Amino acid sequence: MQKTIHYRGQDIRYVLLQPTRPSNSGSDRADLTLMLVHGFPERGGIFQEQLDALSAYYTLLVPDLPGSGGSPYNPVLESTADFADSLAAIIKEEQIDKLVIIGHSMGGYIALAFAERYPEIILGLGLLHSTAYADSEQKKVNRIKAIHTMEQYGGAAFLKTMIPTLFGPVFKSAHPQVIQELIEAGSHFETRTLQQYYQMMHDRTDKTALLMHLSIPFLFISGTEDKAAPAIDLIRQSSLPQTAMIEILEQAGHMGFLECPGQVNKILTHFLQLVQNVSI
Ligand code: MLT
Repeated sequence: MQKTIHYRGQDIRYVLLQPTRPSNSGSDRADLTLMLVHGFPERGGIFQEQLDALSAYYTLLVPDLPGSGGSPYNPVLESTADFADSLAAIIKEEQIDKLVIIGHSMGGYIALAFAERYPEIILGLGLLHSTAYADSEQKKVNRIKAIHTMEQYGGAAFLKTMIPTLFGPVFKSAHPQVIQELIEAGSHFETRTLQQYYQMMHDRTDKTALLMHLSIPFLFISGTEDKAAPAIDLIRQSSLPQTAMIEILEQAGHMGFLECPGQVNKILTHFLQLVQNVSI
């Protein structure tokens, strides 16, 4: 069901899916809510394959982040904490007490900020091609350059060169239409939204301490061809939590949930089962 809340002067759109098939196992999977937070430059619908695979058993909450998809740009949101608070408003609206949050890349940075601000709500946290590290100095320089490039040539021109770099070479040559569709969808973004996201990612701080201090299960997914959240970074971080699952997808780039959805859906299901086993 498509829903909307009003938050700090703007609407936020999200989808709420209630499980169609209650579990007949002892632990009721239908009790578990999963929030999926999309990355840059995406919208909640990017997770369609995951919604199809998981919606029978879990309550799913899938926002369009402010500025993406059906949610208008909101100039007052500046930091990952601000975006995390916008997710908290949705969760409050739905009267959900506890949930698992999994974020893709930029969505993972926001999920970490959410966990820092609302630790009592989180049962498990997944970094899907994302990282708890802050940007390196070089990456910060590149972000500012990208903000200037967008100012000069527009966000759509920037995305046209950026989006193909997100995929592994094998998928890219086999499925050029997927990349084309994402570029086409990207042309609907306002340039100021894309700049806002880049500034927010540039400004975010290291969150590795959270991995050690939050005693919840963490999931890390990367791809062997992921340049934006390299597998080596995730392997290093995965030793920090008390309970962690790590999966490196062969030949996948930064978009494993589109490049190998079947494999990613299985991993997500295993992670959700792990969370349930730990929290009962
Ligand atoms: C994303 O996929 O959300 C972005 O590539 C994140 C980033 O640039 O760090």
